[in-house]
Amino acid sequence: MLLPKQTVYRSLGIDYKGIKAGEEPIPDIDKHEILIKIKAVSLNYRDIAAADGTYGFPIKKGHVPCSDGAGEVVKVGSQVHNIQVGDRVVAAFDPTHFYGVQRDWLHGHGAPVDGMLQQYKAVAAVGVIRLPKDTHLSYAEAASLVCTGVTAWNCLYGGIPYVAGQSILLLGTGGVSITTLILAKAAGAKTIITSSSNEKLKYVKEKYGVDYTINYMEHPDWEKEVLQLTNGEGVDFVIENGGAGTIAKSIASVKRGGQVPIVGFLAKSDEMPNVSIMVLSKSCSVRGIAVGSMQLFEDLVQFVHTKKLHLPVEKEFGFTNDGVIAAFDYLKSGAHIGKIVIRVD
Ligand SMILES: NC(=O)c1ccc[n+]([C@@H]2O[C@H](COP(=O)([O-])OP(=O)(O)OC[C@H]3O[C@@H](n4cnc5c(N)ncnc54)[C@H](OP(=O)(O)O)[C@@H]3O)[C@@H](O)[C@H]2O)c1
Repeated sequence: MLLPKQTVYRSLGIDYKGIKAGEEPIPDIDKHEILIKIKAVSLNYRDIAAADGTYGFPIKKGHVPCSDGAGEVVKVGSQVHNIQVGDRVVAAFDPTHFYGVQRDWLHGHGAPVDGMLQQYKAVAAVGVIRLPKDTHLSYAEAASLVCTGVTAWNCLYGGIPYVAGQSILLLGTGGVSITTLILAKAAGAKTIITSSSNEKLKYVKEKYGVDYTINYMEHPDWEKEVLQLTNGEGVDFVIENGGAGTIAKSIASVKRGGQVPIVGFLAKSDEMPNVSIMVLSKSCSVRGIAVGSMQLFEDLVQFVHTKKLHLPVEKEFGFTNDGVIAAFDYLKSGAHIGKIVIRVD
């Protein structure tokens, strides 16, 4: 018997402009899997890098892009007892990563393993989080928890945990920064955010209530502004999105004994500063972040649900060739504040 078809996007070119829709069979499931009717897919910078071939980790040629998807369960395997048809679920970034640190890069959706940019996705039942029945989260918000949300939560709680009242510096107004800002504010943090744009800073102050803002173009020595705002001591956490181009200023901005979770690589530089001397002199902790485990994901969903937090979905696009490319274009432009989502109708 021929299976019904679904629309699946695959990365078929040399960059994200080569992502194209095709017709493929709806996947069958085994006894431990569920079939999700995807409702929303949230984008990450990684999705551009994977499509462009610049992602520093394994990529399957012709992969289905995007790690972050949420939807409704339409079929469950015979041995799945904790999930039912009709449940709202969100799939983990790596369904084999249950606890502790990431042990390999072989199972992440949207690069080595086909991702979420399709109408139906079969996944292991143990690799999803079932959203509470009375959740306030939209599918778009739930999808935005997967990579960005867990990464933000990992920064705050995956190492030496954040303590209420501590100060947190966020670099730029992208998805990781704004999501961490929302979580940090809800947990009682003093927050500082940087941006290249005064309009964005105004928006973030009004919409998300960040305590202090710094324009890093107007203040190239922004670490001095951070020290001034923190009584000369520095912040407890710097969420390090920039990489080689910002690490020196980030360490200069952190308090003695503070923490610098290393998340991103947005700010390029030909030179790498002497990080070991800087870390030593600040007695600070620098920790590489690789998204996070199911354990962190569960804790995050519980926190967001209990606190009725909304995730920062800034703009949604349609599930058409034009809509998908426009969504990627928008992400690439850097004009966004927070998360970009593709609605899968
Ligand atoms: N390690 C992990 O597990 C993990 C997980 C998620 C993301 N990431 C990485 O983390 C980084 C951020 O991800 P994202 O999803 O938040 O990206 P994004 O949404 O694309 O963020 C882009 C924003 O970053 C800011 N930015 C760019 N260059 C900057 C610079 N030199 N200094 C300060 N800010 C700068 C800009 O903000 P303004 O326009 O306001 O200046 C820009 O709009 C990326 O490198 C991504 O690959 C890593």
